[in-house]
Amino acid sequence: MKRNILITGGAGFIGSHLVRLMVNKYPEYQIFNLDKLTYAGNLANLADVEDKPNYTFIKEDICNFEAVRAIFEENKIDAVIHLAAESHVDRSIEDPFSFAQTNVLGTLSLLQAAKWQWKDNFEGKLFYHVSTDEVYGALGEDGFFVETTPYKPHSPYSASKASSDHFVRAFHDTYGLPVVVSNCSNNYGSYQFPEKLIPLFINNIRQNKPLPVYGKGENVRDWLYVEDHARAIDVIFHNGKVGETYNIGGFNEWKNIDLIKVLIKVVDKELGRLEGASEKLITYVKDRAGHDLRYAIDSSKLKNELGWEPSLQFEEGIEKTVRWYLQNQDWLDNVTNGEYQNYYEKMYKNR
Ligand code: NAD
Ligand code: TYD
Repeated sequence: MKRNILITGGAGFIGSHLVRLMVNKYPEYQIFNLDKLTYAGNLANLADVEDKPNYTFIKEDICNFEAVRAIFEENKIDAVIHLAAESHVDRSIEDPFSFAQTNVLGTLSLLQAAKWQWKDNFEGKLFYHVSTDEVYGALGEDGFFVETTPYKPHSPYSASKASSDHFVRAFHDTYGLPVVVSNCSNNYGSYQFPEKLIPLFINNIRQNKPLPVYGKGENVRDWLYVEDHARAIDVIFHNGKVGETYNIGGFNEWKNIDLIKVLIKVVDKELGRLEGASEKLITYVKDRAGHDLRYAIDSSKLKNELGWEPSLQFEEGIEKTVRWYLQNQDWLDNVTNGEYQNYYEKMYKNR
């Protein structure tokens, strides 16, 4: 079946993996990647698909409603997978406005454009909203987030994502817009901007720089390999029930400090250093404000109803990830020195 699918945020970390999967797996679909190319968006992430006939890149801000509406109209968009967002908790603590702007108002702009384009004829249409487990707040020592866990976001990032989730569901309940939402745990893998824990620490170990561990390093995160997230989105997009929510996670919890020691071990081995030599780089720093203690996702609904399961064991995923960053030092250097930003500014100045 032919479909015109708008993926937002496709030049980012998870978005680029999803675009790659969809473009390669579904040649009959036209994939439109709408991305503003903020500091986190990088077209180099998609160099291997940019010439495919079923792929089009559109540089735009999701908050620009008139432009978004025109994109829907011109390209006869009949499905959306919405990932574009400001995504880093620490940045949200510094600058909450840009999170409300993109994550809340940007999502509203896309919802309005979809509703406008589809004009109440929702047959074959879908608005898929990609969200995070952070909307549920923090867990104590035990228990899991399920799809019915009440929302209790703590950071400006998670508050903005929670708000966007509510708008998406409100459009379903009020206007009948066909929506589906997924809430996923922390992702890791290639092409993640090195401000997030795993790529930042791999890069710092490589450069013998301090590893800033927040608080005592006792916070727990549930890590999922990014390609498994992209596969889950594919499964939910095609087989998920309209109006439903699906939690995505790998049942793979790690205390930060334990994860950091695994990372050090793998990077040291790859670099031919003595095992654990880089542990001396661990530096405990002031805790993040409002730091959520623990996230853990129960993804059994997705497994039982749609048959999705993670494909990679964590050890294998982390080795692949470390190797990717070490073998792609140009990519790392490029995104950390801002050169690619200057390039895009120049390239798109007159558009
Ligand atoms: P990212 O920061 O790597 O990428 C975000 C992308 O959105 C970038 O390409 C950026 O240029 C684009 N973007 C930002 N503002 C925009 C705007 N106003 N208009 C158009 N494009 C804009 O993020 P990510 O880690 O790939 O996350 C993608 C989505 O998945 C987000 O919605 C995030 O909340 C969600 N999520 C992320 C994780 C994770 O661990 N990274 C886990 C669960 C859910
Ligand atoms: P992060 O990758 O920012 O993801 P999130 O905050 O969305 O879970 O952080 C993962 C965990 O690592 C989180 O508990 C905060 C911690 N952390 C550090 O200890 N030091 C760091 O420099 C960073 C970026 C994160």
